[in-house]
Amino acid sequence: MYLFKNVSGLRAFLEPFRTKNRAIGFVPTMGALHEGHLSLIRESLAATHCTVCSIFVNPTQFNQQADLEQYPRTPAKDLQMLYEVGCQAVFMPTVEAIYPPGLDTSVAVDFGQLAEGMEGRFRPGHFQGVAQVVKRLLDIVQPSHLYMGQKDYQQCFLVRHMAQALALPVEVVMSPTVREANGLAMSSRNARLNPEQRKQAAIIYKTLQDAGAWIKQGLPPAEVQEKALQQLTIPGFRPEYFEIINGQTLQQLNEAQPDRMVVACTAVWAGEVRLIDNLILQTGS
Ligand code: PAF
Repeated sequence: MYLFKNVSGLRAFLEPFRTKNRAIGFVPTMGALHEGHLSLIRESLAATHCTVCSIFVNPTQFNQQADLEQYPRTPAKDLQMLYEVGCQAVFMPTVEAIYPPGLDTSVAVDFGQLAEGMEGRFRPGHFQGVAQVVKRLLDIVQPSHLYMGQKDYQQCFLVRHMAQALALPVEVVMSPTVREANGLAMSSRNARLNPEQRKQAAIIYKTLQDAGAWIKQGLPPAEVQEKALQQLTIPGFRPEYFEIINGQTLQQLNEAQPDRMVVACTAVWAGEVRLIDNLILQTGS
């Protein structure tokens, strides 16, 4: 496994793959890796000739300084995990390498209503930061395949939108969420939960599943949201939103839409830790 800290080294390593038209898979991460990240790496390894994983805690996507400071950082463990899974190249740039003074890295894509709800509503500026860093990383790595987790459904959707809007030659692959035994979606932030919170956080996946059952029973989406928010309000937990959305437009549903893709999405504070999760309730026809 090769480790690169600067852009030129990584570019030189990838050049032979590019000139031979070999598929390059890319998994962008902010480190504190877990089984969810490894499943993306494995998917890339199976489908491409070379897999690159980046580890970069991107300051521009944090809307709270404390969240950025407390974001878990475990570089030595991350490298060990990537080596063991068989990842070929790791890119661990500095902030200066990603945002060199004088380089305009802003992204001129209008996300419109796609970025207005859910994470966009509660984390102002977050998606501009994500788009900025993902575009910059794509420019550096120039992969044929980009692997992202379904846990960040809205993020994955917006990145796909950006790739289309800018006609970037990359296929955005959304991979299923990996869960702990109790259903809790794997996330780097789980490391900040205490054992009791980790156990209790099973309520999030259970509520997403219940929401699916309630929709099937014919309950209107607004009632499902209400019931879900109540169920998630347990001591120490505070739901921020629970939305039943059209999976293609990311807009909230007002009524059942049996032929559409429907996704339940939620963000819940477990003490000081913000967790997000979602479940595809209907795939649509
Ligand atoms: O999902 C993440 O970990 C980050 O938002 C990403 C895509 C690596 C961009 O910093």
